[in-house]
Amino acid sequence: MRDLFTEFHERILILSVNHLFGKGLENLILKQRFAILPEIRRVWDLNEALLILEEWKPDLVIVDYDDQTVDRAAFLQHFVTSDYPMQVLLVSLQDSDRIVVYDRRTMTPDQAELYLNLSQSISASLTEKRVESKGDSMRHFFIVTVLVILSTVLVNTLLNSVGLLPVQASSQANTIDRLFDTHFFLISFLFSLIAVFLVYSIVVFRRKSEDDFGKYVTGSSRLEVIWTVIPLGIVVYLAYLGSQSLAEVRRIDPQAMVVNVTAGQWFWRYEYPDFGITSQSLNLPVNEQVLLKMTSLDVIHSFWVPEFRVKQDILPGENLVKELRVTPTQLGTYTVRCAELCGGSHAYMNSPVVVMTREEFDRWISQELTGVSSDPVARGQRLVTQKGCVGCHSLDGKPSVGPTWQGLFGKEQELIDGSRVIVDEDYLKEAILFPNSKVSRGFAPGIMPEIYQDQLSEQQLTDIIEFIKSLR
Ligand code: CUA
Repeated sequence: MRDLFTEFHERILILSVNHLFGKGLENLILKQRFAILPEIRRVWDLNEALLILEEWKPDLVIVDYDDQTVDRAAFLQHFVTSDYPMQVLLVSLQDSDRIVVYDRRTMTPDQAELYLNLSQSISASLTEKRVESKGDSMRHFFIVTVLVILSTVLVNTLLNSVGLLPVQASSQANTIDRLFDTHFFLISFLFSLIAVFLVYSIVVFRRKSEDDFGKYVTGSSRLEVIWTVIPLGIVVYLAYLGSQSLAEVRRIDPQAMVVNVTAGQWFWRYEYPDFGITSQSLNLPVNEQVLLKMTSLDVIHSFWVPEFRVKQDILPGENLVKELRVTPTQLGTYTVRCAELCGGSHAYMNSPVVVMTREEFDRWISQELTGVSSDPVARGQRLVTQKGCVGCHSLDGKPSVGPTWQGLFGKEQELIDGSRVIVDEDYLKEAILFPNSKVSRGFAPGIMPEIYQDQLSEQQLTDIIEFIKSLR
């Protein structure tokens, strides 16, 4: 269309009731940067246009072909009968920029007559097409709506049946799962909305022939308002649901039992300050809220029990105690996982959570309290749990950060300098107190801290070694 204006005209008349149409054309013409600016006039009705035509004698007339108020036949008739040189452009925006050019400088009246008929037939076929598609569009809309509803139900059922969520084992899990359900439904709906429209359009509105062009559609304020207001409403509703759920999950029970959780590379330690007990597994009475006060000894870890649904990052630093409240509702054994990449053994940083009845819990507490055994192996076992040794040394032969203790005693061990030692009491003692002096082959020096000289008595050291000796 731009090319049509490269030719210079002195006086240009634009006829359209649409103000934007006229203004847009005027800008387009002025952008051509002619040496002399053409004079441009804009008019809104036919009578005015005819009047100016006679007096002003423009050499180019541009007519809005979509303007229903202009009697085109009468207008064009005027050009055929008049005789001064002039070019006329009939411009349609609705029909893919189709332009009819009528040039009185080069055409005979007969040719112009032909043009008139041509433009009539174009206008006739345009109206026909529009009426036809109006009836069809309701039918398409109805079919697509039904398909979207069906697809939403199907996808939602699918999402709910593949078992994305583990069992709900805490009262907090109910609240969180309500959010999950809402999101699964929205995901299903949005997926269906896009996929159904896409597939339907590909199949039904496939291009039928070479010159089959789609309707040229410009903005629709109604559509824009709809697709802004509805998502806005959904997002506001989700924010409301989210804040309500957060308040519910954090609801405080003043009776809650406190457990201090310590995370470190790579172990979990649970301390029950009410009873003076330290444990390697998190034991909890069912249906009672527990308040976990958590801190880290080294880097950022994250406490996560998927069945409880709640999760909390744990930060190093004495004053950075993070709190998390859980009310277990299902008896059973679950696993605490670390949900923050925290180094080499992050993937193995697990510990059991045992949800038990109140009676079982009381029994466990009293066992722990009276549990100073006369058996050195039992005392050693308790110690290695408390000190967190088992975070790095497995008891069952599994590879870990440090050598496994299973079958370690009496074995011939190769060291990183290539020499060999027999693992006996003296070697174990040295390895615990000065862990970097004789590091086993395949393990990195400097990982195990040299702190146990201050932390372990001679008796405790012997108890630990007795426990290691018992792991055949
Ligand atoms: Cu601790 Cu990952």
